[in-house]
Amino acid sequence: LRIAALASGRGSNLGALIAARDDGRLPVEFVLVGSDKASAGALQIASAAGIPTLALNPRDYADRRDFDLDLFGRIAASGADLLVLAGFMRIVDAEAIAPWAGRAINVHPSLLPKYRGLHTHRRCLEAGDAEHGASVHFVTAELDGGPVIAQARIAVHPDDTEQTLAERLLIEEHRLLPATVMAIANGRLTWEGAPVFDGAPVE
Ligand code: GRF
Repeated sequence: LRIAALASGRGSNLGALIAARDDGRLPVEFVLVGSDKASAGALQIASAAGIPTLALNPRDYADRRDFDLDLFGRIAASGADLLVLAGFMRIVDAEAIAPWAGRAINVHPSLLPKYRGLHTHRRCLEAGDAEHGASVHFVTAELDGGPVIAQARIAVHPDDTEQTLAERLLIEEHRLLPATVMAIANGRLTWEGAPVFDGAPVE
């Protein structure tokens, strides 16, 4: 399975995927890591792992659609079978993402459909939720709105802050995302307009 990934920040989820590949847990090849931020830690992680990188600046384009069509066109040209959004902090144009239906996944730090978008840890605390979690879902044009594949749950502690919640949840994300990619690589998870599992679900 050939993987391309997009990330805007630190890149710890990308790092978890690369580590799983290095451990022999993930039979994949990384063909490209792209970002909308030249300074993204994810690009450094990719370079250090010998993966081709691509940084495109949205300001160099007339509008979102132009940027996305170029970015997703280059991802297609990389030969990727699967596109992983790992902390890619942009809304994606519907036309650009359409060819990737069922072949693009995203990791989001909430128990979707709760808390799409930003500040999920804060919103979970403000709501007084007893539990929080992370979701991996197929990407559609709707922000954090595509069909959910797998979720991981953590209990919210009385003394939790945004930061402690984020830290504990990240550990789960680093497990959940490679597990999902593994299920796709093994052919246990496919897409028929919705996620279809051959055997047990990912989580
Ligand atoms: C993760 O919490 C991810 O779910 C969210 O942004 C964070 C990215 O972290 N979308 P990293 O860049 O993978 O370290």
